[in-house]
Amino acid sequence: ERKCQLSGLWRNEQDSLMEISALDDDGGFQGEYLTRVTLAGGCTRISPLRGAQQQPSEVAWPTFAFTIWWNTFSNATTAFAGQCFVDASGREMLSTMWMLREAVGSLEEDWKATRVGRNVFTRKRTPKG
Ligand code: BTN
Repeated sequence: ERKCQLSGLWRNEQDSLMEISALDDDGGFQGEYLTRVTLAGGCTRISPLRGAQQQPSEVAWPTFAFTIWWNTFSNATTAFAGQCFVDASGREMLSTMWMLREAVGSLEEDWKATRVGRNVFTRKRTPKG
């Protein structure tokens, strides 16, 4: 099995972009996320993410999780959990599910504050390759 590496530039089916930096010794990582879609439908900014994965030396296709703080344009929080795969054609992909927590003003609105969904990320190729 070819190893799947989490670091690098990724794009999902909603055209959001994510860059994951090199992993530290504990499997922790940091990165940046640029979402193409927002709850309010308005402006977006590059937002910081932090996560952790299984030690890459131990598994070829590690599981991971990360959270995003939506830098200044939103008070929501998203948590992603997923696994890094190499598909039949040799391409790396991240299969993830996310939960998006929106801030609501009262406990009565708590029931509608969390959304769940799926995102698949593939490596974004730069024009120069
Ligand atoms: C907000 O609109 O308040 C924050 C942005 C939420 C973007 C969500 S997170 C899950 C899904 N995947 C994406 O790439 N964007 C949306």
